[in-house]
Amino acid sequence: MKTFYIVFTSIVLNFNNVFTSVLDLTNAEWTVSNKNESIKISGSVPGGVYTDLHKASVIGDILSGFNDVLTRWVAHDTWTYTGKFNVNESQLNSLVAHMVFEGLDTVAYIELNDHPIGTTNNMFVRYVFDVKQQLKLGENQLTVVFESPIKVANSRSEKYFTAPACVPDQYNGECHANQLRKMQASFAWDWGPAFPSVGFWKPVTIEFYNNIIMRSVTTHIEKDDAFWYIKITAHIESSRNKKDIKSYMSASLKLEGNQKYIIGKDLDINTNDDGTSKADLSMTISQNIVKLWWPNGYGDQALYDLDVYLSTINDGEISHKHLQIGFRTIELVEEDATKYLGNTTAGQGLTFYFKVNGYPLFMKGSNWIPAHILPELGSDRKRIDDLLTAAKDVHTSMIRVWGGGVYESDYFYRRCDQLGILVWQDFQFACAMYPIDTEFLNSVKTEVEQTVVRLQHHPSIALWAGNNENEAALRGNWYTRPQEFQRYKEEYIKLYVETIQPIVKSLDPGRRYLVSSPSNGLESEREGYIANNPYDAHYGDTHYYNYMADNWNLNIYPLTRFASEYGVQSLPSISTLKTATQDPKDLSFDSVFIRHRQHLPNGFTYMKQQIGKRLKLDENDTKYFEKFVFYSQISQAMSVKAETEFYRQNQATWHTMGVMYWQLNDVWQAPSWSSIEYGGKWKMLHYYAKSFLAPVLVSPRLLLSGDVDVYLLNDRFVPIVNGEITVDIFNFSSLIPIRSQTYVVQAEPLRSTKQNISINLWNEPNKEEIFVKFSLKADGITSSPFNFVFPKSLKDAVGLKEPRIQISVSKRTEGRPDNGLQYNVDIRVDTIVLFLWLETNTNDGHFENNGFIVTQPHIRVKYTSKTNLTPTELEKLITYQYYIN
Ligand SMILES: *[C@@H]1O[C@H](CO)[C@@H](O)[C@H](O)[C@H]1NC(C)=O
Ligand SMILES: *[C@@H]1O[C@H](CO)[C@@H](O)[C@H](O)[C@H]1NC(C)=O
Ligand SMILES: *[C@@H]1O[C@H](CO)[C@@H](O)[C@H](O)[C@H]1NC(C)=O
Ligand SMILES: *[C@@H]1O[C@H](CO)[C@@H](O)[C@H](O)[C@H]1NC(C)=O
Ligand SMILES: *[C@@H]1O[C@H](CO)[C@@H](O)[C@H](O)[C@H]1NC(C)=O
Ligand SMILES: *[C@@H]1O[C@H](CO)[C@@H](O)[C@H](O)[C@H]1NC(C)=O
Repeated sequence: MKTFYIVFTSIVLNFNNVFTSVLDLTNAEWTVSNKNESIKISGSVPGGVYTDLHKASVIGDILSGFNDVLTRWVAHDTWTYTGKFNVNESQLNSLVAHMVFEGLDTVAYIELNDHPIGTTNNMFVRYVFDVKQQLKLGENQLTVVFESPIKVANSRSEKYFTAPACVPDQYNGECHANQLRKMQASFAWDWGPAFPSVGFWKPVTIEFYNNIIMRSVTTHIEKDDAFWYIKITAHIESSRNKKDIKSYMSASLKLEGNQKYIIGKDLDINTNDDGTSKADLSMTISQNIVKLWWPNGYGDQALYDLDVYLSTINDGEISHKHLQIGFRTIELVEEDATKYLGNTTAGQGLTFYFKVNGYPLFMKGSNWIPAHILPELGSDRKRIDDLLTAAKDVHTSMIRVWGGGVYESDYFYRRCDQLGILVWQDFQFACAMYPIDTEFLNSVKTEVEQTVVRLQHHPSIALWAGNNENEAALRGNWYTRPQEFQRYKEEYIKLYVETIQPIVKSLDPGRRYLVSSPSNGLESEREGYIANNPYDAHYGDTHYYNYMADNWNLNIYPLTRFASEYGVQSLPSISTLKTATQDPKDLSFDSVFIRHRQHLPNGFTYMKQQIGKRLKLDENDTKYFEKFVFYSQISQAMSVKAETEFYRQNQATWHTMGVMYWQLNDVWQAPSWSSIEYGGKWKMLHYYAKSFLAPVLVSPRLLLSGDVDVYLLNDRFVPIVNGEITVDIFNFSSLIPIRSQTYVVQAEPLRSTKQNISINLWNEPNKEEIFVKFSLKADGITSSPFNFVFPKSLKDAVGLKEPRIQISVSKRTEGRPDNGLQYNVDIRVDTIVLFLWLETNTNDGHFENNGFIVTQPHIRVKYTSKTNLTPTELEKLITYQYYIN
């Protein structure tokens, strides 16, 4: 086999090339019917039965009212999709005809023209069936019968039971989700309803060709001092057992300055018994002709087009893949922590941080749940764009695709590549033990192989993790079966260590595979995969929830090397709740509707207690519920802010190197931990994330002693030299500070630096009348968010007055023209205003910031709208709330 450079166009012109032909069955004529055929409606592919029943008006909006339980009969029935499509002579004459189901949800039996062609039982697997024998000229009929996932899960559990049986009653969910390779949250979660969907959640096609096709391309990229070494692997498929297919593989990589690197070679391809084969090309490129890819906030996201072609020599059949690749190195560093922290308590154990392009970078972001409870709608591009852009806007550099949802669409990861959002990718196993029967394990093997091959080339993927919380669940006896510990441990190792790990390591040797998330990382492995304490602060990542403590107090939080989950609930806005009910009576605490949507046992009690620790809310207030919604959002924002800043500060003392709060998004209008409501509206938490995740932030910590430690957080590659922190003490009744002091400060790059600022509030008289404001001025930093300390709980604040607030809107003229329709909103006040919250009751636009602690008579905030409004129209739309006790 020889490798040589070619002028690429020659290969295209030399033959009478034909690209592999694909018949997309999306446009076939689809019908869907239930078992007794009392319902027969038109179907959609890709789609799903809930979507189709809604379109046909058999059921209402699934997210409205109580429709999650009222439509549950759907998931107990058997649904048959029938599609009619035509095949012509040239298609029929091709030597290979493969029907490719990109995603069937989940347990299905398939017939083509009344001949059985296969069965499926894993929604995360692409199924390919040879249909050469069953296809006919003219009209063909494909029939896919979906069994009730609820029934299959139940019947499998009789044979292969493993804990837990059911979700808590509060979830209104279904049992034994762990028996199925299906989105685990589709049987309900503490933040979501059960919609045990069935259908084609991804496309189905027929591929016609004569020889071979390329299914996917993986790119393994390594670096030394001068070069990048790229190994491009084509994953080839055909009908079984083809020998000696003379082919030509080529690749073209577009580099800086319109240069192209083109390479190709002749191949003799012999496929394995299952019809697969692989072929490689290697490139070596000098480092100075590409730019590095950086996570958001740390640099740009350079991406390069890679085209890979595979053509057969005898008939010039071509298969083509286009990818965008990025050049970056990433490693998860787990090494002796004394190196960083000395011979101290903190220095015991191992570090756990990401080094990107050689730099230790602090990771900031949140956890991603499916973008929609129906998997076919979760790949909607607009929804993904809106959520990922909103994540980027609040300085997200990493999100975690959580293990109870789905492996997201190609589009999702492409957008992460473009936006600089690194992905901590869980395999889809969550909060359960899993069966290990042969059928299950074989299906998981295929799932893992296909997933890694599909996603491996994305620079955004940072690591793989075997599951969500299953190590912790087993160690902590979440399912109260301590007598089964040994059995479950062996099964756990069988699945995540012996089955999944070797596949990931062989297909993607460049990335870390963590067995569980959270875990103690290497230490969990040393302790036999189920660590004694998976939450050990000296190792790995942790999840932390505490609904009983005072969450505004930074001193309650645990130490960790990396906080991969934490958060508290809030209610979504009234305007979002109104999209789920038309009845105003539902919008009260006594309503069955509101209680129905709270899946966290005691959730409202916790929320009330959290609010009660810090804010004063009169139960007899005529606007009690409306205020409760607002206060729950203040409480959530302040809690997650406190916890996040605690972790960021601890970069200095504990080498904490990551924060991902739970959770970014929502699947319905309900109380949840999200920072963005279903429908896209930002909660106060999301606005606050923009501040508490800011690259440069003054971050105070009020200690129990009354001392305030002040940290300067600097996630940049340059130090802060002779910056100025101003500390203003305010009286709640006045916009003029009682006193101010300025400190000259320094901060190292990529560090949290504790400042030599000594503030003690212990001896401050009348602490209930004051609060402290922190602001930073430094060269090269155009804006750094203000920060605040409230020495006393705000429910006891003295001096707050009803403010006079004037809002006026004007069109923004400055700024880039592609910013959409932008307005300046000028806010004038006559006294201190806490948590000033602006709303427009439309999802057609958003404020740049919100939830203000107003300490100046005039502030200006940008508003970006998708529709063209006059300033007067916008002014009329704006309503506001604020906190007063
Ligand atoms: C057919 O199935 C539907 C849905 O499961 C059920 O409501 C209906 O009663 C059944 N009809 C007959 C005639 O059995
Ligand atoms: C068969 O259908 C394919 C796809 O629509 C089309 O490209 C091709 O020209 C058709 N061939 C004949 C012989 O009609
Ligand atoms: C670390 O500290 C302990 C206790 O102070 C001491 O006994 C030990 O020798 C120290 N180890 C090193 C390597 O300095
Ligand atoms: C609210 O009203 C009830 C009934 O009138 C009364 O018992 C209760 O004390 C009031 N609560 C507050 C906080 O004023
Ligand atoms: C705050 O302002 C009020 C009203 O002017 C005043 O009575 C009070 O003493 C002030 N408190 C402090 C701590 O300065
Ligand atoms: C704090 O003061 C000490 C002693 O003067 C000095 O060495 C150190 O650099 C200062 N730290 C900062 C962050 O300014």
